[in-house]
Amino acid sequence: MALLIKGGEIVTAESRTRADIFVENETITAIGAGLDAPAGTEVVDARGKLVFPGFIDPHVHIHLPFMATFAKDTHATASKAALIGGTTTFIEMCCPSRNEDALEGYHTWKQKAEGNSACDYAFHMAVTRYDARTEAQLREIVRDGTASFKVFLAYKNFFGVTDEELFHTLKLAAELGVITTAHCENAELVAQLQQQLLAEGKTGPEWHEPSRPEAVEAEGTARFATFLEQTGAAGYVVHLSCAPALRAAVEAKLRGVQLYVESVLPHFLLDKSFAGRAGVEGMKHVMSPPLRDKRNLPLLWSALQSGLIDTVGTDHCPFDTEQKLLGKNDFTQIPNGIPGLEDRVNLMYTYGVKRGSLDIHRFVDALSTRPGRLFGLFPRKGTIAVGADADLVVYDTDYRGTISAATQHTNNDYNGFEGFAIEGRPSVVTIRGKVQVRDGVFVGNLARGCMIRREPQYYPKQAAQEGSIHAR
Ligand code: URP
Ligand code: ZN
Ligand code: ZN
Repeated sequence: MALLIKGGEIVTAESRTRADIFVENETITAIGAGLDAPAGTEVVDARGKLVFPGFIDPHVHIHLPFMATFAKDTHATASKAALIGGTTTFIEMCCPSRNEDALEGYHTWKQKAEGNSACDYAFHMAVTRYDARTEAQLREIVRDGTASFKVFLAYKNFFGVTDEELFHTLKLAAELGVITTAHCENAELVAQLQQQLLAEGKTGPEWHEPSRPEAVEAEGTARFATFLEQTGAAGYVVHLSCAPALRAAVEAKLRGVQLYVESVLPHFLLDKSFAGRAGVEGMKHVMSPPLRDKRNLPLLWSALQSGLIDTVGTDHCPFDTEQKLLGKNDFTQIPNGIPGLEDRVNLMYTYGVKRGSLDIHRFVDALSTRPGRLFGLFPRKGTIAVGADADLVVYDTDYRGTISAATQHTNNDYNGFEGFAIEGRPSVVTIRGKVQVRDGVFVGNLARGCMIRREPQYYPKQAAQEGSIHAR
């Protein structure tokens, strides 16, 4: 069936225009004023509303065996929550541990998602070990359309890679033209500092941040950049949280390293005092890199506005209260993660665009267009244009609400942003032309989503000829 989105104000990374959008067979086929609706067309009245391209979350964990437990969402619960919040595509970290076979892990993750996702999705393939079989397996995974890797410089002996493994991964990534995303913290320093703090009887969640201080993240970021420089690979720092790490990333960018930066929702809105709250309330706010001193927050906002921070993800990773309590006597055992997939768009709109810290076009760019470009989803995803997938968010800027676990769709019994006011939410969300959400209610098809296969796009020769593929 055809779909007509009528009378809205279309806002992309570059422009703002009042026009109708006509959709046939999953794709936008016309944009213009006063478009006709042939018989049988479903019409969405978007008058008085903004129309954004579907938002892309470049960093989520759905299936995740981690820290002796499993993250709580399924692809069904997470994808519904994503859509209700305006995210139409997410990129999930496929994270087999060091002891598992990478290719088997990849198939497990794909099977979990296939037929069970209401929104579209892709994967970053985590390289958690590099041995004799890894190279052939990664080549196969890239041929299958997963054109980005993930490495952890943290989480010693579980997800973490050695410098030798990092080097081999990046050499292969450069050859294959895929970008490597990286969790940048020095694993050895974290392990030593954790033991030191525990030995001093410092066991509560308020000690999580001192066990992985800003310098530890800055070192990881600088080291990752140096390895990119020496291998010619393209890289993307995930969940950058603080000024020293940003400085290390910017220095590398200035040297011409192909390096992009993501920060995630919690680091823009929460600070380390949340992890310092008494008991389990503090544990709910434990993630890595940790929530930081609040002096970092304005700096992250201005770096986002200027484009030094390229994208905003969530690092969505839900562990419930019972799971958080696994670390009640030892902060190193608290499962790491603060979920946010459902809330990213509304919170960044409210505390960025509405509060004047973030231009509306940069908002669209950082939460949709640039993740789309960097990860090979664009121009199919990440913009509103003839020929693009009709992933559309009709946004109601008059809506007023409050974030609460009681009303969320994410499978968790708390929300790290409980009580935050929001000023706007999606009123209609479509995936490839099908209406999936109306005013906070999922009304669609749970199996609508499909895996978006991506092509490599970071060949060093191309980069040398054309400069960075940097968005905008
Ligand atoms: O605390 C976090 N970030 N949990 C998820 C795993 C990761 O490091 O991304
Ligand atoms: Zn991480
Ligand atoms: Zn993560």
